[in-house]
Amino acid sequence: MPINTDYLVIGSGIAGLRFALDAAQTGTVAIVTKKEKTEGSTNYAQGGIASVLDPDDSFALHIKDTLTSGDGICNEDIVKVVVEEGPRRIHELISFGVQFSHQEGQKKIFDLGREGGHSKRRIVHTKDLTGREVEKRLLARAEENPNIQLYENHMAIDLISKSTLIRRGIVTKQTDQSCWGAYVLEAETDAILTFLARITVLCSGGAGKVYRYTSNPDIASGDGVAMGFRAGVKVANMEFVQFHPTSLYHPLARNFLISEAVRGEGGILLDKKGNRFMESYHPLKDLAFRDIVARSIDMELKKTGDQCVYLDISHKGKDFITHRFPHIHETCLSFHIDITREPIPVVPAAHYMCGGLLTDEHGRTNLKNLFAIGEVACTGLHGANRLASNSLLEALVFARRAALRAAQELTAGKQEGFPQAPKWDPGSATDSEELVVVSHNWDEIRRFMWNYVGIVRTNKRLARAKRRVEIIQEEIKEYYWDFLVSQDLLELRNLALVAELIITCASLRKESRGLHFNLDYPSQDNKFWRQDTVIWK
Ligand code: FAD
Ligand code: SIN
Repeated sequence: MPINTDYLVIGSGIAGLRFALDAAQTGTVAIVTKKEKTEGSTNYAQGGIASVLDPDDSFALHIKDTLTSGDGICNEDIVKVVVEEGPRRIHELISFGVQFSHQEGQKKIFDLGREGGHSKRRIVHTKDLTGREVEKRLLARAEENPNIQLYENHMAIDLISKSTLIRRGIVTKQTDQSCWGAYVLEAETDAILTFLARITVLCSGGAGKVYRYTSNPDIASGDGVAMGFRAGVKVANMEFVQFHPTSLYHPLARNFLISEAVRGEGGILLDKKGNRFMESYHPLKDLAFRDIVARSIDMELKKTGDQCVYLDISHKGKDFITHRFPHIHETCLSFHIDITREPIPVVPAAHYMCGGLLTDEHGRTNLKNLFAIGEVACTGLHGANRLASNSLLEALVFARRAALRAAQELTAGKQEGFPQAPKWDPGSATDSEELVVVSHNWDEIRRFMWNYVGIVRTNKRLARAKRRVEIIQEEIKEYYWDFLVSQDLLELRNLALVAELIITCASLRKESRGLHFNLDYPSQDNKFWRQDTVIWK
């Protein structure tokens, strides 16, 4: 039997939970999430949420900083909407119980943080554990709501749309391009469930796992972009992969971020000999825009042959550091690095996907009844390089806007009856005995993406990556049809497709802009390329 719901939300990070809380006022909501309910980038967010909350700041300045960071291709209307709706969304979070840090002894004055590219202090945070606090409070609200049902360890495989059914050899009477829910793998039983929904919302986060080194948690395998693309959704700006300049460099540390807020509070980047180097790259020095800092570190490492650079905050003293950055302090200590006394070894790592499924000002994709919110979406806010801490803000603003629009579409759609779709048919697939193939392919993708489609690209490297990904895609295709699906295989299939989309967008853009730097076209071409890179199936 299919599971019927008004709204199907795929993902339980900030975007999915915030959307669900509003949507539950107008219908039933099923949230499917592929691992434990808190597992997603939201839970690991450190720096905070950017918004204009200080009388000394202004919307005009936040807009200007976002546009400058985006390097000429932000959608200015969207930037205005997000910045101006920001403070209301922050106050809503507070009404849900989120506790942000305040200045010492000042219960009403936020302790606003600063990060690269911001001309003012404007980042609300909960020390260096902002995401954990936001996730916890939103989740608590969602779990007490009788209209919301949360399905943990349920991984969406594919959207149910005309394209997906035809691809699976199923004849459909449906003529329009709409979405009616998703097929979902239940981890505990390996059963494939059919979720039928009047409105489907992809909130599945980013794709950092496509690179060998990343700040992202394991869930970030680009499932949403891959599912959307397969179903016929337009995808934009995938070449703009943001590399965070400072992730911890330690053989035992898996993807641990050292927040940009550390530099915002006076942290300084140093080379191995203890020399500052950012002043020779940009007038904003250590607080330059993220693309510039990551590229500068990359150049330093190539120039010196060193394995890492260093970030020093020790001059701020133990009291300040342990109060402001308790999580970073403790985590580094667990690796025997005392950040109150010594610099932190750091390297850049893939961090954020500025591109994604193309959406309008209400979070709608080009498929009827399908919305996309959060990191999976390309709304036009970030352009060629996201301004730090604008991502959680974007998710909050679009979750609200999408919920308002989806409620209208739900009412209109009710006259059309409930969507129908056949059960998942595994065909003649059998259990695989060679799962090792999956992990080999996975490793290979992450390696060549790091080596050929990383911070600095060339035409030759992109062509090499394209050839590699084509071969892997072929292997996956054979494998996919012969064997029963598993979570690893599904993630590999998505990862390979996302890699292909990044390579395609990067190869199309014949200039350098923001996060996309190609040595064969080192300058910006504002005559032709001041636009998004949009692709679809
Ligand atoms: P996520 O929070 O990643 O949630 C995605 C959800 O989708 C998860 O529940 C996941 O399990 C689920 N999912 C994925 N695929 C499937 C599937 N196939 N089926 C079912 N469920 C699925 N941004 C800021 O603005 N400020 C910060 O301070 C900040 N710090 C960061 C620190 C780190 C370490 C990282 C990694 C990112 C940071 N970012 C920050 C970026 C920001 O956290 C993310 O962009 C944002 O949290 C994304 O929210 P989301 O709801 O779109 O996705
Ligand atoms: C950080 O704390 O440095 C991450 C902020 C972000 O990605 O916006």
